[in-house]
Parts: sequence; structure tokens; C-alpha cells
Amino acid sequence: MIFYFSGTGNSAWAARQLANLTEDEAYNIISLKELPDIGNAKQIGFVFPVYAWGAPEVMVDFAKKLPQPPVFTFGVCTCGGDAGLTMKQFSKWYSLSSSYSLVMPNNYIIGSDTDDKGVILQKITAARVELEQIAQEIHRQEQVYRVHEGGLAGVKSHLANLGFNKFARSAKPFFTEDSCNGCGLCARNCPAHAISLRDGKPIWAAQCYQCLRCINECPQRAIQYGKSTAGRHRYTIWAYLPQDEQF
Ligand SMILES: Cc1cc2nc3c(=O)[nH]c(=O)nc-3n(C[C@H](O)[C@H](O)[C@H](O)COP(=O)(O)O)c2cc1C
Ligand code: SF4
Ligand code: SF4
Repeated sequence: MIFYFSGTGNSAWAARQLANLTEDEAYNIISLKELPDIGNAKQIGFVFPVYAWGAPEVMVDFAKKLPQPPVFTFGVCTCGGDAGLTMKQFSKWYSLSSSYSLVMPNNYIIGSDTDDKGVILQKITAARVELEQIAQEIHRQEQVYRVHEGGLAGVKSHLANLGFNKFARSAKPFFTEDSCNGCGLCARNCPAHAISLRDGKPIWAAQCYQCLRCINECPQRAIQYGKSTAGRHRYTIWAYLPQDEQF
């Protein structure tokens, strides 16, 4: 059983690919109504994005509640570049036999613009190759730690991550421009249920997961976050996948 959380699709896609390659099933933790029965699981996996060199809190909370049967376990974090100590910290909450980072296109458009189209395509192509290798290693139940931690990993995963979860998850800076047509997609798709429609226009709760799905996937590109996102591109993996990999 492979459990995933995803904002803009990188981790959802990676989880599905791994499930196909290892003849397993991938489950979106946001769609689960209750804790799943893992009694018959032959392996347990987690796939999620890196947020400020750490695992998303929603994923950690899920893992903390999940029983730990004596089966092979693995975690894959998807990131734009550096994962820091994400997987070592996650392993404290749920013991992992193997840990990986998978470099994928960057979706954090609050911090910087998206990767160029060429880089996006190159990262997805490289990720396909890496996922094949990860799947083979999982199949052989090899214990592997292949995580690109990057520099100053300890400082980033402790101090910067603490700062992110305490201060940078405010949803208040989100606003819509006049091009919003009130379609409601952002509200329907928000994994934190932090968006509602008032007078046909979205309003945000005080805090959210900061997954950036709403701002990246608005069909009108009508959402901004403070002053930092105007003029920047938007990213979602679904724009780059063939038809048979859409879901
Ligand atoms: C709030 C936030 C923080 C991020 N922090 C990092 C980071 O510390 N290191 C990194 O390499 N990528 C970082 N990213 C980029 C994402 O980890 C990366 O694009 C990921 O593959 C997105 O996965 P998803 O499409 O499944 O949501 C961050 C993205 C977001 C939204
Ligand atoms: S998805 Fe975009 S256009 Fe649709 S309601 Fe949300 S902000 Fe408006
Ligand atoms: S409000 Fe936007 S960024 Fe925050 S959790 Fe919902 S979809 Fe993600």
C-alpha cells in the first residue's frame, strides 16, 4: 500500500508510477475517510512533497496514526532540488527500510518562478528512470538511503522548517484578480478545505497546507499570493503528462 499527499501532482504521479511498477495500489491520504486496514499489506510506502526541507505536517500526522506491521517500508519525497533531512526526520515518526528523494519540477512560485519548460520535461524524464530503479530496489527489498540532502541540511530542516510551519503557512495573502469567473475549482480541490466561495468568489481561511494547488491550477490564472507571484508562471504536472497518465 502506497500512501501519498500531493499539491500539484508530482507526488501523486510518482506514487501511481511506483504502484504500477511494484503491482501495488496508491491511496491519496486526503480521500481516505478513515485509517485504512493495512493487515494484508506486503509493503507500505509514503510519497509526498518536501516543504521547507521537511515533510508536510498532514503527511506526518497521518503516518503517526498508522500502525507499523513488520513489512518492508519506504518513503519517497519529491522536491525541486534539496530535501535536507526530510526523510531522516520522517523516519522518526514511521520507521522506513528505504528512503529516497526524487527531483521534480518546482511548484513553489511564492519563492521563485517555475523551472523552464525544457527543465520541467528533463526532470520528468529523469524521474521516470529513477522511479524504475527505485521500484526494482523495492522489489528486491534492498535497504537504500538515496536522498539529495543539499548543503546546511540540519539548519534548514530544523530552523527553516520550524519557521515555515509557524509563520509561512498563512493563507491570508491569497487573493483573486478580476479574471476569476467563480468556477469554484480551487475550493473543490483544496486538500485543506481552506477555500470557500462568498458571493461567487473564493475566500481563504487563515491557515492552510501551502500546497499551492489553488494558485498553480486556477484555469484563469486569477490567483495571486501577496506581491510575489504576479508575472510568474504556473506549474502543474498534469499539463505535461500523456493522456493515459492523467487521473
Ligand atoms: C511550501 C513549499 C515548500 C517547498 N520547499 C521545498 C524545499 O525545501 N526543497 C525543495 O527542493 N523543493 C521545495 N518545494 C518544491 C516541491 O517540493 C516540489 O515541487 C514537489 O515535487 C511538489 O510536489 P507536488 O506536485 O506533489 O505537490 C516546496 C514547495 C512548496 C509548495
Ligand atoms: S479556480 Fe480560479 S477562476 Fe475558478 S473560482 Fe478559483 S480563483 Fe476563480
Ligand atoms: S488554500 Fe491553496 S495552497 Fe492552501 S492548501 Fe488549499 S489549495 Fe493548497
